[in-house]
Amino acid sequence: MRRHDEAAPRLPVDLSVRDTTLRELMDDPDCDPRALHRTFRRFAVVNALVSGWRTAWRTHVMPALPPTGRGRVLDLGCGGGDLARALVRWAASDGFDVEVVGVDPDPRAIAAADRSRLPGTTFRQASSGDLVADGERFDVVVSNHVLHHLGDDERSGFLADSARLARSRVVHSDIRRSRSAYRSYALASPLVAAGTFVRVDGLRSIRRSFTVDELRRELPAGWVAEAASPHRVLAVCDT
Ligand SMILES: C[S@@+](CC[C@H](N)C(=O)[O-])C[C@H]1O[C@@H](n2cnc3c(N)ncnc32)[C@H](O)[C@@H]1O
Repeated sequence: MRRHDEAAPRLPVDLSVRDTTLRELMDDPDCDPRALHRTFRRFAVVNALVSGWRTAWRTHVMPALPPTGRGRVLDLGCGGGDLARALVRWAASDGFDVEVVGVDPDPRAIAAADRSRLPGTTFRQASSGDLVADGERFDVVVSNHVLHHLGDDERSGFLADSARLARSRVVHSDIRRSRSAYRSYALASPLVAAGTFVRVDGLRSIRRSFTVDELRRELPAGWVAEAASPHRVLAVCDT
């Protein structure tokens, strides 16, 4: 039987609380690998439209890079690698020389990321904890759509790892849960979702995601939660 949100999601869906019982289809290790590959590629389109990283690069990443204009950025939970590639392109167009390392513990994500390499990007199968254990450091650590994905204990470890890995700043960006975010995505996602998990997983992700106040309550000392538009929340830590 199809779940309510896979058929024709209509409000009222209860968005007053996070629904952490929902699991994304792409997290199923037995999901259709062709649909998964299409999903990783299509998330590049979705992220370009909704994630607001072009602005976050200018407001939060660029100012935290070394004054030399050269730097190393880490994309934790890089998925198909589109944010890492975009950061390298934006850095070059703004006169910076930035190497971006994308890591993800899921080998299927790294296989997808490796199919679209760009000079200045490197992809590795690793978790944030692996990099801490290896003693790695980066100027700026970023992530996209990872916070909502994790359980409470995993998220605490992820936040602590990311702060240890960053010399200057951590910027985690995610969806900000709201009725308008859900409604907009339900209306627009069919345009880009054919043959992928983009629609179902996106709607589930919105239901799992945080409001600014919820995220603020979850963050340890030294972190701030900020609203970014449209429909985004940032967790930022200056290290
Ligand atoms: C919802 S996906 C987001 C993928 C990509 N950033 C995007 O926006 O399309 C979350 C990713 O975080 C990864 N992840 C989970 N825990 C992690 C950790 N501790 N370190 C690095 N990546 C992690 C998962 O394997 C998964 O690929």
